[in-house]
Amino acid sequence: MNTPFPITQLDTPALIADLDKMTQNIKEMQQQIDLLGLTLRPHTKAHKIPALAQMQIDAGAVGICTSKLGEAEVMAKGGIHDVLITTPIAGAVKYHRLIALCKEHPKTVIRQVIDHPEHVKAIARLATETGIEVGLLVEVESGQMRCGVMPDESLVELIELINRTEGVRYDGIQAYSGHLQLVKGYQVRQQTAFDAVRDVFAFIDTTLAPRDLKPGIVSGGGTGTFAAYPGLGYTEIQSGSYIFMDATYAAIGDELCDVTNRQFSPALKVLTTVISHPAANRAVVDAGMKSLSIDLGMPKVTTYPEVTYQCGGDEHGILHLPEGHRQLKVGEVLTMLPSHCDTTLHNFDVLYGVRDGMVVEQWAIEGRGRSD
Ligand SMILES: Cc1ncc(COP(=O)(O)O)c(C=O)c1O
Repeated sequence: MNTPFPITQLDTPALIADLDKMTQNIKEMQQQIDLLGLTLRPHTKAHKIPALAQMQIDAGAVGICTSKLGEAEVMAKGGIHDVLITTPIAGAVKYHRLIALCKEHPKTVIRQVIDHPEHVKAIARLATETGIEVGLLVEVESGQMRCGVMPDESLVELIELINRTEGVRYDGIQAYSGHLQLVKGYQVRQQTAFDAVRDVFAFIDTTLAPRDLKPGIVSGGGTGTFAAYPGLGYTEIQSGSYIFMDATYAAIGDELCDVTNRQFSPALKVLTTVISHPAANRAVVDAGMKSLSIDLGMPKVTTYPEVTYQCGGDEHGILHLPEGHRQLKVGEVLTMLPSHCDTTLHNFDVLYGVRDGMVVEQWAIEGRGRSD
């Protein structure tokens, strides 16, 4: 960015990241994963910005994850050299786009998660026609009952299909338990996460390894569970939200405290302006659900923690002031801590990087809206 300017010059609603906290979060997760002897492949669905992905790689990450092919297109175009697309794709348009992406970026490692023979055949057919090979990770059911083959003979059959099909390559498996990332309480979260994938690793040891089908890559884990799998056999961890730590994540606890996570700092905020104060106990701000997502609950009012936020619709946020609270000024700018970073980033075009009250960076959220 050219010239830094005071944060007070930002119009609202505005999305800001505390650069020192964000940088420290990046460093901390990398250190934790290094200590575990694993590699980090951050999930960039949290931020959707190639420049931040590059910061994570510069800090030691092996590459990145994207949820969607559209996000992968953004990351590859943005110069990211190693991308794993963690959601299976389907349909002729998608398969053609995947192959086009691989062809367009021959030096970029692009891998696709799959869980069905149809995926293998369709990707392989186009890859062979184009003269390329696509690396695949097989998603294995890990307790969420979402995508993923069961760790049984169907997994063996799918891997064997990949191995005998030209145009695709068996690179490993994905075992991700998304439903356990936000379990409150460190010990219970670690234990349930471990238990959820125990069968997967038992199957690898007892069935895949003897048949020479042991996965090279085993990818999974998130911000809540990155340390939950000692000795199990993961090779890389896909944590994403740690870069920002939204209000929901900040409340899951860490090793030392069951209700507050102090290992990573809340780095993402939304600035919002008081536009109305119709009653002594009620004010209204200009950030409704088009700015602050509410899928994981209400955001927190950082400026006045005793004030609670209620979604007032698309464009309005209603603030409830406790009895006797000092009246807010119409025009006053407040700071909010979003409840869910992924979906909040989805609402903004730009993320401003701030330090010491100054806006010093400005990133277009290029993967915003790229759920295609
Ligand atoms: C497949 C996959 N891996 C990793 C993550 C990152 O999880 P978190 O943001 O909880 O760290 C997600 C998030 O939804 C995901 O879908």
